[in-house]
Order: sequence, then structure tokens, then C-alpha cells
Amino acid sequence: MPAIRKTIDEAEIQRQIELCSRIRAMKNTDGQAGLALVDTYGCQQNEADSEKIRGYLAEMGYGFTQDEFAADIIVVNTCAVREHAEMRVLGNVGALNHTKKAKPEQIICVCGCMVQQEHMTEKIRRSYPIVDLVFGPHELWRFPELLLRVIEKHGRVFATEKDEGAVAENIPLRRDGKVKAWLSIMYGCNNFCTYCIVPYVRGRERSRQPEDILREAEQLVAEGYKDITLLGQNVNSYGKDLDREIDFADLIRMINAIPGEFLIRFMTSHPKDATEKLFRTMAECEKCAHHLHLPVQSGNDRILRAMNRNYDHAAYLKKLETARRLMPDLVVTTDIIVGFPGETEEEFEDTIRLCEQVRYDAMFTFIYSKRNGTPAASMPDPYSREEKQRHFDRLTETANRISGEKHREYEGKSLRVLVDGETGREEYNLSSRTNGGRLVHLKGDPSLIGQFVDVQITASNTWALYGEMKNG
Ligand code: SAH
Ligand code: SF4
Ligand code: F3S
Repeated sequence: MPAIRKTIDEAEIQRQIELCSRIRAMKNTDGQAGLALVDTYGCQQNEADSEKIRGYLAEMGYGFTQDEFAADIIVVNTCAVREHAEMRVLGNVGALNHTKKAKPEQIICVCGCMVQQEHMTEKIRRSYPIVDLVFGPHELWRFPELLLRVIEKHGRVFATEKDEGAVAENIPLRRDGKVKAWLSIMYGCNNFCTYCIVPYVRGRERSRQPEDILREAEQLVAEGYKDITLLGQNVNSYGKDLDREIDFADLIRMINAIPGEFLIRFMTSHPKDATEKLFRTMAECEKCAHHLHLPVQSGNDRILRAMNRNYDHAAYLKKLETARRLMPDLVVTTDIIVGFPGETEEEFEDTIRLCEQVRYDAMFTFIYSKRNGTPAASMPDPYSREEKQRHFDRLTETANRISGEKHREYEGKSLRVLVDGETGREEYNLSSRTNGGRLVHLKGDPSLIGQFVDVQITASNTWALYGEMKNG
């Protein structure tokens, strides 16, 4: 049964864009084209949101800077996934005291997941008086209206109402690079893993209509983007909330049919919803990268149950086996949490065992961080930070060793890679990615950025491969 899916009227977004023109006109009266700085924390979803914030700011006539003393407006787009992310944000917002003292008319905005939590909004209200505007992810579409309120009233504005979230199309976007692009296909999360704050701050799953996604993908290809990453907290549940028959595999097929040479990537894929149909589609669609980021979180069934992940380690391994049978060259990466409340030595050993079995190309490992308001926050957590750290170090060592071994297997092989940027180093001045997303350093002319080239891998380490361009 499709949930009630709220969309923001196109006329509303149009009105926001008109408000941008009003702000632009107001600024022009004192002859200053202002500068903006957008500082982004957290996941790719937040990067994609920051592109919309920059899109609006550009409509308002702002140029962009990295220098916080030069900026007339600073937008800090925050993350709440772990305590560490929040501490970094608060530290950096606190440091803006200096810039605001030097430039009292500077406007400071804090937005994103962190401020969608009531206790954080309160903290900013009380302890960070330099912050002029606070808005949660659900209010991003009306950033111009909120900013105008700050400018006109010279007062503080807080917009962080509890909301399930909506879908807003046609917000102007300003992307960073010219080679790789993020493309949000859905927002929110319904999974409520017991450790995770995301469903509380990002609202319920909402899919964009396939026509809107396809239009954006076509435009990206026409603009020359070569690497398109489809984004969602769980892309495998794409379409479930739409009142039509479409799933994520169908969407990949539609995007794959766009003419041109480019790669389709996606993240993240929840193991419980990863289907053979998806793997088959990945194998059959020539533009779909053979990379699967399939976060396992733990290799122990009791912990997986306590996390509310809805699969056990055997089901996970079986899915991977199917995927690898269909795509023998599949690159597999994962996320793992160490030190979930009550995780014992033996339970941790199951995670190590699973990693040795799967042999991940890369692993993103985290120490469990207690998040207020989640079910895991009230579970007994008897193990010390030191014990968790010890497990974490052991897992990292395992991860690094396996990555190094996997990378060594590439040596001597020939591959097609996409050159995506410069490294700033003389030897190996270019960076590129394999189809599976592994980093390859190369030496070559910067004009190759944005092109697919054939390389031979000559060396490797834990983090990267090194290659030589083939002649001709
Ligand atoms: N939607 C994605 C993950 C988003 S968060 C998915 O389900 O795969 C990215 C990663 O952060 C998660 O996969 C998890 O490993 C980690 N994470 C989330 N909450 C955490 C917490 N409270 N403590 C430590 N790590 C956490
Ligand atoms: Fe968090 Fe789980 Fe949703 Fe991922 S699937 S965002 S880990 S609740
Ligand atoms: Fe962080 Fe929000 Fe992403 S909590 S990980 S920025 S969805």
C-alpha cells in the first residue's frame, strides 16, 4: 500500500526562485556581489543537498569562497550519524565567533540532520547566538524564504518542525565537478535500524517520479558527466511508495538506455531488499558499474537481530554468492559497526570471520555511537571504550590487509578507467576510478580528465592502485 507521498507544488518552488531574485536585487543596491561558503558534513545525500543550497545561493547572486573571513553568508550543512560528526560541527560553528566578530553583518546558517533533533536546536538557540538561521532537511526547499526573513527582520529564524518530509522538484542545483554527479532518487528511510538516527531526521521513504529522475540523468549525460551515482538511504526500496509498478532494477534499466558512454553507480543498498533481479540487471546493463556497497554491519546473528537488520549472516552470504556468480568481477564494499551494545568477544569474532570469508575490497568501519532517541540507546552497554577500540583496531587491520591483498591481484592487469581529477602530485598527477570504483593513480595530461582510458596496473598498496596509460 503506497504511503501518502507529499510533493511540494511547482509554483511554490517558482516562488522561492523569485524570492532569490528579490534578495539579489536587495544586495545589488549596495553594489556588493556577496560571497557564500557552504560547509558540508556527512554522507553523499548531504553533498547533494548542499548542491541545492548552492543553487539557490547562485540564484541570489552570490559567488563562492572557501575563506570564512571573506564570506558574507556561511551555511553549515550538518550530520548527526555519530557523536564525532556532531562534535566537529559544533566546534567549527563555535569557531565562527571570530569571523562574525570581524564581520558583524555575516549571516550564519546551520542546516541538515543534526538540527532536526530538538535537543540540538535548543543547544544552538542557547549557546550559539552567532547563528542566524537554523533549518532542518525538510525545510531546505524554502531556504530563500527563510533567509529573506533573517535579512528583513534582522532576527534569528528557526525552522525545524517535525515532518515526514516531501519531494520537491526543480530546485536549482549547482554541482561541484564536471565528471562525477550525485543524483538523488529517493529521500528518507523506513528501516529504523536500532542504532541509527537517520529515519528520525530524514523522514519516511519518498521516491522521485522516474520521469523526473530520467530527465535529470539525460541532462547530466548531455552536460558531459561520465559517472552518475544514484543516491538513497536504501535504493533497493525505490518505487515502493509510488502508485505504479516500478522498482530500482527497472530504474537502472531506464537510465542505462540513455545513449552515451557513462557509468551508473548507486548507494546504499540494504541487504534485506537486494534481489537477484537487481544483480541480473547490474550484470546485463553495460553502463552499470560492477560495484556493490552492501553494508553488513555485523557478522553475528544475535547482533543483527538486535540491530533490526532483517537478515542473518547466511542470507547475506547467499545474496553475495548470487551477485558474484552473475558478476565475477564484482567489487564489494561494506559498513561495519563495532561495539554495538552488549556485543561480546565471540560475537565480534563472527564479524571478523565473515570479513575473511567475503574478502571485501574496502570496508568502512565505525565504533558504535549512542544516538539519543534510538532503541539501542537504552540497551545495556557494559563493554568499555577500550575494549571496543581494541576490536575496532583489529577489524581495521583485517580490512587493510584484505584490501591490500585484493589490490595486489590487479597488478599486471589491463583495465579501462575514468580519469576524474588531479592529485596535486608530480609523479602520478591524475586520479581515476575503475569500473568497480577502485582508485587508480596515473601520470598523464590533465586534458584527459573526464575521459575513459586503458591502463595497465603496475603497483598497488592498501589504498590505491598505480597504473600506466597504454599507448594508442
Ligand atoms: N542507509 C545506509 C547507511 C547510512 S549511515 C545503510 O543502511 O547502509 C552510514 C553508516 O554509518 C551505516 O551503514 C553504519 O555502519 C554507520 N552508522 C549508522 N549509525 C551509527 C551509529 N549510531 N554508530 C556508529 N555507526 C553508525
Ligand atoms: Fe540507518 Fe538503517 Fe536506514 Fe541505513 S537503513 S539509514 S542504517 S536506519
Ligand atoms: Fe549524516 Fe544525515 Fe547523511 S545524519 S550520514 S548527513 S543522512
